[in-house]
Amino acid sequence: MPVVRGKNIDVLFSPEQIAARNMELAAQIAVQPKNDLLVIAILKGSFIFAADLLRALHQVGLAPEVEFITLSSYGQGTKSQGVKIIKDIDSEVKGRDVLLIDDILESGRTLRYARELMFERGANDVSIAVLLDKSCRREGTLNADHVGFECPDYFVVGYGMDVAYAFRELPFVGIVTGDVADT
Ligand code: IMP
Ligand code: MG
Repeated sequence: MPVVRGKNIDVLFSPEQIAARNMELAAQIAVQPKNDLLVIAILKGSFIFAADLLRALHQVGLAPEVEFITLSSYGQGTKSQGVKIIKDIDSEVKGRDVLLIDDILESGRTLRYARELMFERGANDVSIAVLLDKSCRREGTLNADHVGFECPDYFVVGYGMDVAYAFRELPFVGIVTGDVADT
């Protein structure tokens, strides 16, 4: 079990599993013809997945424009739960096919917001690719078109995802299981 900065971390998805799955996802995405494809990575958590998936998309012959949007949830655990834009994209969306990329689909609030925003801006089509689907936490019916892995109900870190700003740099997806000193 890897130890990172004094924490034991269980590997849930290895770099090799993720790389293989990314190629499968790219092949799946390439099946449907796209009209002026715009890929939008939702920051911050998706930055590594998006970088790898884009290179896999290149291998299957897609050459999308790439954009980034930073979204943040507010009021989590309280009555008012919403999503706000911290940093928006610059590109025109009207008439285009959009592929949203995120790290985890959990309640679905973030991706529902992003999807509706792109349709409001006139997108022709909006599809969703996520590395992980925590479907047991879903609120409502939103689903991703392309899912890397079904995710068990743990808080996961690595491969772009953080807990308290840490562990984004790990090359695998893992679960923090405790302090080394406790074991
Ligand atoms: P949703 O809006 O509830 O679907 O939440 C999705 C967002 O919450 C993701 O984009 C992640 O940034 C974050 N998130 C959810 N679960 C985890 C986790 O286990 N580890 C790290 N971030 C998470
Ligand atoms: Mg996120």
